[in-house]
Amino acid sequence: MKLIYSKKYTQYTRLELMEKVSAQMSKKRFTHVLGVEETAIKLAQMNNGDVEKASIAALVHDYAKERADEEMIAFIHSHHLDEELIIFGNNIWHGIIGAELIKLELGIHDEEILNAVRKHTTGDMVMSLLDKIIYVADYIEPNRRFPLVEQARKIAFENLNEAVKFETKHTLEYLIKQEALIYPKTITTYNTWVATVNRHLNK
Ligand SMILES: [Fe+2]
Ligand SMILES: [Fe+2]
Repeated sequence: MKLIYSKKYTQYTRLELMEKVSAQMSKKRFTHVLGVEETAIKLAQMNNGDVEKASIAALVHDYAKERADEEMIAFIHSHHLDEELIIFGNNIWHGIIGAELIKLELGIHDEEILNAVRKHTTGDMVMSLLDKIIYVADYIEPNRRFPLVEQARKIAFENLNEAVKFETKHTLEYLIKQEALIYPKTITTYNTWVATVNRHLNK
């Protein structure tokens, strides 16, 4: 792929950033990251989004996914983050703390990029175009295999807001089936994007 970064958001070239990210994770996860990038770029192009920001946010979105739990818990304490975070585990930490680690370790300070990382697993009440692109690309990238993925892809390439709705509804459904903990923000996302009474907020 020929995507030349402007250096506005990162000091690195795309290839250098890819190397930094791949050093943090397994081959399999890095393949997922590249799939998210490819999808995010497509979604950005289709929705008049910023392709460079979509690429950077996608490349770094799972930067902290393989960090040791002890390191993440120590970070929550040392940075005085909400201790309630601790029970939710890395599925939630890697977005919120990941954004801080990306700032500290990769020198990326663009708040729009960092917010897309923060929100990529839970969504949020208010989501920017980039937030939606990363949230949806993470769910439908070409390496994903789950029963509803084809339907999710079709919706995503037709209407990004509908894709946010679809993903939020089915993620919550899945978590409940697993009897998994639900992070409160996931419910807020559901209330805003899925529950009919509030849907006008995101139209
Ligand atoms: Fe993630
Ligand atoms: Fe991911």
